[in-house]
Amino acid sequence: MKTDETVRKAVFPAAGLGTRFLPATKASPKEMLPLVDKPLIQYGVEEALSSGIEEIVVITGRGKRAIEDHFDVSFELEHELRQKRKFKLLAEVERISGMVDFSYIRQRNALGLGHAILCAERAVNGDPFAVILSDDIIDSKVPATRQMMKVFKKYKDPVIAICEVDEASVSSYGIIDGVEVEEGVYQIRDLVEKPAPGAAPSNLAIIGRYILTPDIFDALRRTKPGKGGEIQLTDGLRDLMASRPLYAFKFKGTRYDAGDKLGFLKATVEYALRDKELGPAFREYLRGLKK
Ligand code: G1P
Repeated sequence: MKTDETVRKAVFPAAGLGTRFLPATKASPKEMLPLVDKPLIQYGVEEALSSGIEEIVVITGRGKRAIEDHFDVSFELEHELRQKRKFKLLAEVERISGMVDFSYIRQRNALGLGHAILCAERAVNGDPFAVILSDDIIDSKVPATRQMMKVFKKYKDPVIAICEVDEASVSSYGIIDGVEVEEGVYQIRDLVEKPAPGAAPSNLAIIGRYILTPDIFDALRRTKPGKGGEIQLTDGLRDLMASRPLYAFKFKGTRYDAGDKLGFLKATVEYALRDKELGPAFREYLRGLKK
């Protein structure tokens, strides 16, 4: 293993079918659903950048071209905005395309999150890397990925984000069993993908932020299809746990499951209320509804 624990790359799996959000996601990527005025994936990308990530690898699939276009230069649009002297919008549009280095890898078949990560092996090139699932929107003072990097720097082993969920929803997540080694940091004893209620080892659920090391790739290659017939990252991590410690970290912040209709609505309402321009009028509107 290399001794450099600086995490410079982030992998964004984005080839999933978005079945929880059909029919909206039939022809449009779920990563492009707008939370107020930015697509979900942009929140993740901004979190990565403010955490010090320099290179973003997006794992895409069929029907996901809009993601590439979003982070690319748009000559016609920029020209139009310049002509119409809409400089504020122009600056925003230019900011997006100039953000960071992107590369795109096509996952030809949606064979699961573990398989998506395996597609990034060459791009990751032997370095530790972050994984960001753009469904999970995290609002926090210190970006969640940066919090995770700090834990990784200390322990030098893979770190998985977790948060407490209620018993009824354990079967929607990967669940860990662990021993707390310092406040908020657990050494993982076991992890299981979407256990049946009653069979979960705890209520500590895996959230879509990971700092991984390149030995995850061999583990994923050994991983057989699990829940839903898919190659699960959780199962790959379970395999990796036989050869090195894994840690789970209870990040500080609020997480929204924006891949789920209700979670998406909650995030929309809260982000809109916080928006400087929209917030006051939106609050008034909601007050009016209560009557
Ligand atoms: C994936 C992971 C799961 C994790 C979840 C977090 O599941 O497989 O372990 O808890 O992300 O959002 P998905 O939501 O893609 O079904």
